[in-house]
Amino acid sequence: MTTPDTRPDNGRDAGFDCLAALLRARAGLELARSKTYLVESRLGPLARAHGCVTVSAFLESLARDGIGDALAADLVEAMLNNETFFFRDIQPFDLLRQRILPQLRAARAASRRIRIWSAAASTGQEPYSVAMLFAEDRASWEGWTIDIVGTDISRRAVARARSGLYSQFEVQRGLSIHRLMAHFEKTGEHWALSPDIRAMVRFQPLNLLGPWSLGAPFDIILCRNVLMYLAHDCKQDVLARIHRHLNPDGRLILGAAETVLGVTNAFVPDWQNRGLYLPAPVPQTPAFARAV
Ligand SMILES: C[S@@+](CC[C@H](N)C(=O)[O-])C[C@H]1O[C@@H](n2cnc3c(N)ncnc32)[C@H](O)[C@@H]1O
Repeated sequence: MTTPDTRPDNGRDAGFDCLAALLRARAGLELARSKTYLVESRLGPLARAHGCVTVSAFLESLARDGIGDALAADLVEAMLNNETFFFRDIQPFDLLRQRILPQLRAARAASRRIRIWSAAASTGQEPYSVAMLFAEDRASWEGWTIDIVGTDISRRAVARARSGLYSQFEVQRGLSIHRLMAHFEKTGEHWALSPDIRAMVRFQPLNLLGPWSLGAPFDIILCRNVLMYLAHDCKQDVLARIHRHLNPDGRLILGAAETVLGVTNAFVPDWQNRGLYLPAPVPQTPAFARAV
């Protein structure tokens, strides 16, 4: 009787573990074993570029040969889910237009300045959708400084966001014909976003796990459809830091499938509006406690 040779599976499993550890350490991303199909579909091109016929062989080589810095960055980039579209889940944008922005306009009447951060902006559709809300109510915001920052760990996504160029497929997702005509121009194969909308948003690469260099606190932070991919302790860390980067009367907007419940007490849900969170007040340290 012969013993079955399990070496190839062991090599692939070790490679999967290597990849999972890398994603966790570099981006806070959790990769469960049940997601093998994702690895198969996302790493195919990178595997071929490294001379491997199959993703399994590629994973084995990762475990066997180790992962250098450049390959590590390519692996993280390849495994990211950059899915996004204009006015995704419409409700948060309706809420911004109807309630949050008018309230902020009253609250910031003295400074006439509003800062908004899209913390996992992918290819830019989310922060550009916010910029369109301001452009569509131009008269109300005359003389205001509207500072919208879009960040993402993916340098490729940030470069695409900065280009302001979108395919036919991308503009068909979430944009009305009216908005397409108002804010885009057809240039060859692509639709180019109008310069005034592009000028309202600054993009920069930023890993939510790394240091943040973002300047003054924000009035609104959108952190949508990214926490769901992060490990529990990374979610806690990111939400604690978001709390410190948000003004006390600011608002946090998460994705429709995300919540702070069971993760942190730093935010309180607005029960009337799914996905909207208010920062919990920071407990004041009594003077005598500060003195010791
Ligand atoms: C599914 S997209 C969400 C895009 C947009 N917020 C939306 O809801 O349509 C998730 C984005 O999170 C980014 N991401 C994943 N891990 C990240 C991290 N550690 N730091 C910053 N961005 C990250 C990915 O690159 C991707 O663009």
